[in-house]
Amino acid sequence: MAGKKMTLNPAGSHSIPAHVAIIMDGNGRWAQSRKMPRLAGHHEGVKTVERIIRAAAEANIQYLSLYAFSTENWKRPGSEIDGLMNLFRHFLKFKLPDLKKNGVRLLFSGRIDGLPDDLANEMKKVEEETSKSERITVTICVNYGGRQEIVDSVNRIIELGYAGLITEERISAAMYQPKIPDPDLVIRTSGETRLSNFLLWESAYSEFYFTEVLWPDFNGEELQKALTYYAGRERRYGSVKGA
Ligand code: FPP
Repeated sequence: MAGKKMTLNPAGSHSIPAHVAIIMDGNGRWAQSRKMPRLAGHHEGVKTVERIIRAAAEANIQYLSLYAFSTENWKRPGSEIDGLMNLFRHFLKFKLPDLKKNGVRLLFSGRIDGLPDDLANEMKKVEEETSKSERITVTICVNYGGRQEIVDSVNRIIELGYAGLITEERISAAMYQPKIPDPDLVIRTSGETRLSNFLLWESAYSEFYFTEVLWPDFNGEELQKALTYYAGRERRYGSVKGA
C-alpha cells in the first residue's frame, strides 16, 4: 500500500472493488478447440474486452487493468505477434469514438517505446484524446512485465538522484501508472493460477479470483461471480480481525 491511498467505489462501499485487474487467458485454447487458428481466439478476445469494459463500468468499477501482451509474449510465433499488434491497431482506430462516447479513459502501461512506432504513437494519441473521460479508466498492459516495471522504476529513482534513498513510496511513485490505485481484485481466466509477471508490486494485497472460463467466453455474468466472491472476502492488510 506504500504511497497509495485506499479507494472506495462511488457508492462509498468497500464491497465493490475500485480496481479490477484481469489476466485474459485462454484465447488460444478457445480457438484450437474449434479447429480455428489461435489468432481467431485473440479476435474473439477483443470482443470480450469490449463487453467487459461495458460490464465493469455498469458495475461502478472505477479502474480496470487488462494484461494484453507481456514482455514474454515476444517468444510467440511472428505471425501471432503481428496479428496481435494488428488487433491493437484496429481496436484503437475503430473503437475510439465508442470509448469516448461511453466515458472510457484509456491508458497504456508497459515498455511502450519497445512497440512498433506507429502503435506507440497511436497509444499516446488515444491517451490524450480520452484523458477527460471519467466513467472508467481502462489500463491496457502491453509489452508489460511486473519485474521490468520494478527495474524501470528503481532506475528512474536513481536517475532522479535518490540512489541509497529508495523507499516503497518512491518505487510506487515511479511505476508506470502511479496515479492508479493498487488492484483490489485480480482475475485470471482459463484455469491457470499463476500471476505470470503481472502487477507484481501492485498486487501485494489484492484478492485473487480464478475461473476455468476461457477469456473469449468471459462475460458480465462471469464478472459478477468474481465480484460476489470479492464481496465475501475480508481484507486485513496484515492486521487482525476487528483491529
Ligand atoms: C492469452 O491467451 C492471451 C494473450 C496473450 C493475448 C490477450 C489479448 C487479447 C485478449 C486481445 C486484447 C486486445 C485489446 C484491444 C486490449 P493465450 O493465447 O495464451 O491462450 P492459451 O493459453 O489458451 O494458448
